[in-house]
Amino acid sequence: QAKLVETSKRLAAYQAVKDYLLPEYTRVGIGSGSTVVYVVDAIAALGPEVTSKMVFYPTGSQSEELIEAAGLNLQYISKLPAGQQLDVAFDGADEVDDDLNLIKGGGACLWQEKIVATSAKRFICVADFRKLSPRLGTAWKKGIPIEVLPMAAPRVLDELRRMGSQNPRIRPGLPGKAGATVTDNGMWIIDAPFAPLLLPKDTESGGQAGDGSNGLWAVDVLADALIKIPGVAEIGLFYGKNGLQVASGAQKPVAAYF
Ligand code: A5P
Repeated sequence: QAKLVETSKRLAAYQAVKDYLLPEYTRVGIGSGSTVVYVVDAIAALGPEVTSKMVFYPTGSQSEELIEAAGLNLQYISKLPAGQQLDVAFDGADEVDDDLNLIKGGGACLWQEKIVATSAKRFICVADFRKLSPRLGTAWKKGIPIEVLPMAAPRVLDELRRMGSQNPRIRPGLPGKAGATVTDNGMWIIDAPFAPLLLPKDTESGGQAGDGSNGLWAVDVLADALIKIPGVAEIGLFYGKNGLQVASGAQKPVAAYF
């Protein structure tokens, strides 16, 4: 299984770069996680005649290191002039549903990932076969990653329990390291499990409210509620209203699966 998963990640990454990194692009976002390692390999394999004209924007310390190690040009999203966008951003995901909504943040990089993703004209999610499921929360059972201000963590946990999250918890640090996981932004991560999230089409056809009243949440309703909790910096639900599917069809995320 492990070998199959790595092969699948690699194939998805090479296919995504082949199909969606157009030679005329100059600004490219690079996400975080183990799948993105293959994305950077695939980009580097294009050679300097293609990549030297491009600038790559990281989503945290891991992808910054990847970009530098591959000899690619590094720039920070904070330096992107107002009114301008990246041409494309590539990133992985923890789970992808039927509408291409995503759970992200298994690697604790979700805040910068969302900023880079929503700064790009096009967002390409690169995911292996394990990640696709009809409803978020089916395949990825650890919960929705939520980046929080550490001093607010107990209050956020209270509110998540009130909203029906089953056993939300602060993510511990790496094995052997005391305390919580600390993000690149000095925040903590809470993982909040919810029952599998409904899609808009469920609420239309199935008559289920999706407003949490019966323990069932629709992706967009839950995302709106979570981001409003005081102390929450960002959430690992990526869906249309976060900018990935707004306005033009060009911004629709595309997932590459193998
Ligand atoms: C990082 O915080 C995440 O959002 C990653 O994109 C996600 O966890 C996917 O990681 P893998 O490619 O390692 O599965």
